[in-house]
Amino acid sequence: MVSKTMEELASLCKRRGFIFQSNDIYGGVKGLYDYGPMGVELKNNLKQSWWKSMIYERDDIEGLDATILTAPDVLKHSGHEDTFSDPLVDCKSCKSRWTVDQLDNQSCPNCKSKDLTDPRPFNLMFKTSIGPVDDDSAFAYLRPETAQQIFTNFKNVLDSTNRVLPFGIAQIGKAFRNEITPRNFIFRVREFEQMELEFFVEPGLDDEWHKYWVDSRFNWWIDQGIDKKRLELHEVQKDELSHYSKATVDIMYTFPHGKEELEGIANRTDFDLGSHTKNQGDFNISSKVMKNKKSTTKLAVQNLANKNWFIPYVIEPSAGVERGVLALLNEAYKVDEKNSRTVLALKPHLSPIKAAVIPLKRNNEQLVEYAKFIKSKLQKLGLGRIALENSGNIGKNYRRHDEIGTPLCITVDFETLEDKTVTVRDRDTMKQQRVGPEELIKYYQKYFE
Ligand code: GLY
Repeated sequence: MVSKTMEELASLCKRRGFIFQSNDIYGGVKGLYDYGPMGVELKNNLKQSWWKSMIYERDDIEGLDATILTAPDVLKHSGHEDTFSDPLVDCKSCKSRWTVDQLDNQSCPNCKSKDLTDPRPFNLMFKTSIGPVDDDSAFAYLRPETAQQIFTNFKNVLDSTNRVLPFGIAQIGKAFRNEITPRNFIFRVREFEQMELEFFVEPGLDDEWHKYWVDSRFNWWIDQGIDKKRLELHEVQKDELSHYSKATVDIMYTFPHGKEELEGIANRTDFDLGSHTKNQGDFNISSKVMKNKKSTTKLAVQNLANKNWFIPYVIEPSAGVERGVLALLNEAYKVDEKNSRTVLALKPHLSPIKAAVIPLKRNNEQLVEYAKFIKSKLQKLGLGRIALENSGNIGKNYRRHDEIGTPLCITVDFETLEDKTVTVRDRDTMKQQRVGPEELIKYYQKYFE
């Protein structure tokens, strides 16, 4: 059974140390969440899986880790200063603030008054000051997308790696949006992480590459354990496209609160590189590109056949880490009524803990010693965190590890001290078997093939 409610997921997340409300002991702040001991592992595993598929398993993508603080010039020329806003109205009676689509028949949803201000744009970017003077002469934005520093570093990466088109730059990192109404647990939040690829291609080949990346990203989510029947592709309508996009396809997932975007794959054309480039007149660029008199660099490449310089087009698969975590938790959460247990059937590469080693008797020196030996042997294989559970309550440990998604429990008992065999228990089948030391390593590694 797949989870029916967000409450069930949120409750498991709190109980088992995945996700907590941020600033909780002071009442919490809406739209901010902290990731606990299990959450940070799950998140890291998801990011690592993405990084591996983008950088290590391919030969045409480089990585980047750029700053969060972003100069206003960057976000002016990216179009975000002008367009990244929601229209808001204030209720003059009760002083509450609403987005236009939240109004109830043109009245305030709180006090029903019709005495409202005209809608005014509210920029979603967070601002902070740089240096000791707190005024508008030296401020930075917290980036609203990781993409922009990929564009501003285009030439640095190109020149330092000798890349030719097509090639990509990938980045994972925090982004910030001052959402008016954060909602649906970790789905719409104010501080989040993005996994973004900007893939640079020759103009004219962009439609083909766009399709390639839509298919590739759709299949990647299936490989992470998402059931195809809860995924759907949605072509964004022309009048709903972001200011930089020629075409966007969203990968939609059926979350507990409804069908919403998990990842968007946009054809950003030459909008960004063109907007950040100097001497724009030298290039045949599209009309939407922002005028720029400040940039010091041409973000262009040379056609080696005819020696002409041109601005590449960009295909951008952009995924939200938290949305991915929510979708994966929703997929994995199962209530096994027959065996009175809750199971998080995560794929092993995503599980926060890869194996739990459990001495049968708490604090028994020889059992604990041997359990530590096994832990250290498995830990050295480098596949993720191995836990040592010295509580002596096997049943309770099995339940806990089922709920946090540990694929394998290994019990060390008195027989182990004689013949080095241990009992392994599989999370999903609950099947137990006795294996020797050589077999144990192979048995463990099989989970990650
Ligand atoms: N980079 C695309 C987005 O943040 O929506």
